[in-house]
Amino acid sequence: MDRIRIGGGTPLNGRIRISGAKNAALPLLTATLLTAKTVRLRNLPNVADIKLMTALLEQHGSEVEHHESPEYGLDASYTTAKITSTTAPYDLVRKMRASVLVLGPLVAREGNATVSLPGGCAIGTRPVDIHLTALETMGAKIELEEGYIHAVAPDGLKGAEVVFPMVSVGATENILMAAALADGETVMRNSAKEPEIVDLGECLKKMGAKIEGLGSDTIRVQGVAELGGADHTVVADRIEAGSFAMAAGISDGDVVLEGVDAELLGSVIDAMAEAGIDVTPVEGGLQVRRNGGALVGVDVMTDPFPGFPTDMQAQMMAMMSVAKGASMITESIFENRFMHVPELMRMGANINVHGGSAMVRGVDTLTGAPVMATDLRASMSLVLAALIAEGDTIIDRVYHLDRGYERLEDKLAGCGADIERLREPA
Ligand code: UD1
Repeated sequence: MDRIRIGGGTPLNGRIRISGAKNAALPLLTATLLTAKTVRLRNLPNVADIKLMTALLEQHGSEVEHHESPEYGLDASYTTAKITSTTAPYDLVRKMRASVLVLGPLVAREGNATVSLPGGCAIGTRPVDIHLTALETMGAKIELEEGYIHAVAPDGLKGAEVVFPMVSVGATENILMAAALADGETVMRNSAKEPEIVDLGECLKKMGAKIEGLGSDTIRVQGVAELGGADHTVVADRIEAGSFAMAAGISDGDVVLEGVDAELLGSVIDAMAEAGIDVTPVEGGLQVRRNGGALVGVDVMTDPFPGFPTDMQAQMMAMMSVAKGASMITESIFENRFMHVPELMRMGANINVHGGSAMVRGVDTLTGAPVMATDLRASMSLVLAALIAEGDTIIDRVYHLDRGYERLEDKLAGCGADIERLREPA
C-alpha cells in the first residue's frame, strides 16, 4: 500500500487547479444509464471512485470513449445503447456506496434492478431505506434477499408525491433520475439542495428531462418517455476546494484556487472568515490567506447544504487543533465520523469527544507521527495537520485519499509543500 510523507512547516504559496466534483460526477455517470444516446462528461475528476463507477457502468452495458483530457481531469463519452445486465454485484457495490445510484436509473429504464446492499461503512451504518421507500411510492415492488435489493416495476414507475423523512443527498439523486423517466409528475419534498444535485439536474435537463425547483427543497419532475444525449461539464469540487483553502490557511500561506467560485463554498467561507482566513474572489478563482495573525477557535455544526458540510468537518477540526482558544465541532449527519480524532491526538492535538460533539482546545504545535487514514475526508485532515507539524508525518492507507483527491501530492508540491508518495514496491 502506498504511503505519503509530509515534512511540515512550509507555508503554501501558488495556484491550485480545482478538479470536477467527485460527488457530482458519480450520479452524473449513473444518469448516463437513463438513455441509449451518448452523454459526454467533461471535467470528471481523475480519481479512483470514477474508475470504479465506470467499471460498474461497463458491466451494465455502457461503452466508454475517452477524449483527450487537459492536465487535470477526464473527458469521456458514455453510451449505453442497451442495458446488458440489471445487476450491480456485491464486489463493486461494497467498495463504493454511491454504486446504489444505479438503482433509480435501472428501474426507470428497464423496469427492474438487482443491486447489492451497500452495507455498513466506516463512518456509520448509512442505510438506503429512504431510497427504497421513495421508489415504492412510485410503484416499484422491492424485496431484500441475500444482501441484494430486488426492485421491479413491470408497468414502469409512476409519478408520485415523495416526502423524504430526512434530507438525503443520495436518495434525492436516485429519485430525481427515476422520476425523469416515470409516467406523470413527481413532487419531491424535503429534497437535498447540494450543488452536486443541481449539477445532476442541469445535465438531466440537457438530456430532455422536465425539472423545476432544483436547489430548493421541493423539486417537481414531469416524466418523459425517453431521454437523449448531452454534453456536460462537471461542477467544481467544493470539498476539494475547501480542503485546499484550509491547507493554505493552516500553513499561513497564500494560494489561489482556480476554477471555483465563492457561492459553491458558502458556509465554509463564513467559518473560515471567523477563524481568521479570508477567501476572496479574484480573476479565475478564489484567493485564500489569513486576515491577521493567528487562527481563532470557532464553533461549527455540520448540516445539509447550505449548512457546513460534513465532508469538511475533519479538515476544520485539524485547523482548529492549532487555533487560539477552543472550538466545539458538532457532527449532525453521521454517527461515527470522528475517526480522525485519535490520529490527530497522536500528533499532539487536544480533543475531547462527547457523543456527537468534539471539544478542540488549540495547541501551539503539532508533531509529525506515523498515522493511518481511515476514510476519505479524515485522511485529508491528517494531511492538513502534517503540513504544519514539526518533522515528518507518514500517512498510511493512502488509497482513501486516492478515492477522491486527484493527484493531491502534485497539487500541494506545486505550492511548495514538502510531500512525496512512498510507493509500495511492485
Ligand atoms: C453523500 C455524499 C457524502 C456526504 C453525504 C452528506 C456522495 C457520493 N456522497 O452521501 O460524501 O458525506 O452525502 O452530505 O455524494 N440515511 C438514511 N437512510 C437512507 C439514506 C440516508 O438513514 O436511505 C442517512 C445516512 O445514514 C446519513 C444521512 O441520512 O446519516 C445523510 O446521508 P445522505 O445524504 O444520504 O448521504 P450519501 O448520499 O450517502
